[in-house]
Formats: sequence, structure tokens, C-alpha cells
Amino acid sequence: MDRTYIMVKPDGVQRGLIGDVIHRFESKGFQLLAAKLLHISRAQAEKHYAEHVGRPYFEDLVNFITSGPVMAMVWGGDQVVPISRMMIGKTNTLEAQPGTIRGDHAVHTNRNIVHGSDSPENAEREIAIFFTPEEIMSYEKVIQKWI
Ligand code: CDP
Ligand code: MG
Repeated sequence: MDRTYIMVKPDGVQRGLIGDVIHRFESKGFQLLAAKLLHISRAQAEKHYAEHVGRPYFEDLVNFITSGPVMAMVWGGDQVVPISRMMIGKTNTLEAQPGTIRGDHAVHTNRNIVHGSDSPENAEREIAIFFTPEEIMSYEKVIQKWI
């Protein structure tokens, strides 16, 4: 099963959007494999956003993502990485279409509710920053054959 790392960012938690994000992934047909509310450390944030080091927004990004609890999750399913990127919407909120999470809820690119991995390789890298293998479930859903 393909896996991705989805994180409701501190703004999404504060705005009460955890349930909306989880609902969208569940109703799409993806499978929740792990979830926890946690306040991430600066070291975890810098590791997670390593490819953005040196960008003008990096400092704000790390301060923001460590400013309060996040809902960290692992979701599984066929093509879950590209499909979840579509569900989340474009990074630039001016391009995030209505119907996507960012298109429906975000006004500013630096307060955009949710993170989703951009490749299967990055998904595994990011999952390992926030979860131990024992925290990730593996189970059958009988409805899977209908999805
Ligand atoms: O989150 P996504 O993969 O769509 O975008 P990214 O290019 O990997 O950037 C990571 C995060 O940095 C974004 O989600 C924004 O929160 C933030 N960012 C920003 O504040 N300003 C930008 N010009 C670009 C990204
Ligand atoms: Mg990214």
C-alpha cells in the first residue's frame, strides 16, 4: 500500500479543521494508519523542511510549524501521494482551487492548513521523522474491495 505523511498545521488545529481534513481522506477511501497530536520540535521542523533551508520564508515557516500542536498522520492507499496533493490544492493560495482543502480554507500561502508529502520517497522520509514503525498500523478494511 502507498503511504503519505499528512499534517494538519497549527493554524488548521486552531481553526478546528482537524475533523474536516480527516473526513475528506476517509470519505475519499484512504486508510488511516497512524495519528497523533503533537507539538513538534525545532529540530523535527528543520529536518522536515530541510529542502527549504535558505529560502526567505524558512524562518517564518519553522516558527509557525512549531508554534502549537499539529495533527500528524500517516494515510495509505493506491496513489495516495499524488491524489492527496490534489485534495490539498496548490501551494500558492491564489492557485488553490475551491473544493481543495487550501482552496476552501486558506487565504495566505504561509498559513495553508495542511501539509502533504510530494513524493513517495519524501513520504517515507517525513513519516520517519514523526513516527516509529510500531506506531503505524497495518490492518484490513473489509470495504477496501469497493474502493
Ligand atoms: O506545502 P507544499 O508542498 O505545497 O509547498 P512547499 O513548496 O513544499 O512549501 C512548504 C511550505 O512552505 C508551504 O506549505 C508554505 O507553508 C510555506 N511557503 C511559504 O510560506 N511561502 C512560500 N513562498 C512558499 C512556501
Ligand atoms: Mg512540500
